[in-house]
Amino acid sequence: MLDKIKALQQEISAIEATSAEQAEELRIKYLSKKGLIGQLFNEFKNVPADQKKAMGAAINELKDFAQEKINSLKESFNQKQSGLQGVDPSLPGYVFAVGSRHPLAVVRNHIVEIFARLGFIVSEGPEIEDDWHVFSALNFPPEHPARDMQDTFFIEKDPDVLLRTHTSSVQVRVMEKTQPPIRAIFPGRVFRNEAISARAHCIFHQIECLYVDENVSFADLKQTLLYFAREFFGEKTEIRLRPSYFPFTEPSAEMDVSCSICGGKGCNVCKYTGWLEIMGCGMVDPNVLELCGIDNEKYTGFAFGMGIERIAMLKYGVKDLRLFFENDVRFLNQFHSAY
Ligand code: PHE
Repeated sequence: MLDKIKALQQEISAIEATSAEQAEELRIKYLSKKGLIGQLFNEFKNVPADQKKAMGAAINELKDFAQEKINSLKESFNQKQSGLQGVDPSLPGYVFAVGSRHPLAVVRNHIVEIFARLGFIVSEGPEIEDDWHVFSALNFPPEHPARDMQDTFFIEKDPDVLLRTHTSSVQVRVMEKTQPPIRAIFPGRVFRNEAISARAHCIFHQIECLYVDENVSFADLKQTLLYFAREFFGEKTEIRLRPSYFPFTEPSAEMDVSCSICGGKGCNVCKYTGWLEIMGCGMVDPNVLELCGIDNEKYTGFAFGMGIERIAMLKYGVKDLRLFFENDVRFLNQFHSAY
């Protein structure tokens, strides 16, 4: 009987099947009641008492062996069906690299989010513009140097097709379409014909803000700017407004924030002044309101605009503006933010 068991063991270790049905046939052949192993159990009755223990163990072992072999054959067909063959589901999964937002997008989103809390909505306009929306409607006199080829990229030598040099063009588009109250914020790319350096680029980003309604005053502008500065740079931030000039605002100012790096004490970032210039602002010139079809007797407004790269450089201590455009992942990977 032991020989029989050994022979069967050898036979079973060599069996193969090409389908699940064939594996089932093999199960019947070996493992069913009348199967080859089943018959061994019948013959077991005749085994002499002193051999029963050893023989019983050998038959059971053979049965387990056959069971395992046939199960694994069956399983291989199941996996084939579900496309899992050759896949070990117990291996650890792939680690997907989670991307991070570009620092300029982070800064833009943060600024948009702060103004959204004050009721400002986002509006966007085209990057390819005409003279009217970039200059004329914004009260730029015809001889203004900003219109010069030195600053502005013109397309196809047609002075009326140009790349916008500031997002103020979107102010005009919004005012032409909408009557006050207007409370909007305009993020976008702008273009100026400047040599590329650590501090300047011919493509950069601005975010501009416009509020037009009855009784909008310079005090509203100042308070809005203070709120923004403290939300963005921290609650201890101070602001300072210096008189300035823009064709489309009157009066105009430049806003400085207290240096967030040295806390106003003076360092090489603020050039030992304690202040950082971050934006231009002012009350919308009544001429601009009129040119855009808004009653300048009834309404007043304020506007301001800032460069996103500059804010990002100050916020993250980036010393070279070109890094924002190189898309080197070693640089980009360092920015993680909820915005
Ligand atoms: N458009 C101005 C610039 O590009 C910024 C600005 C916007 C100033 C709105 C005043 C009001 O520098």
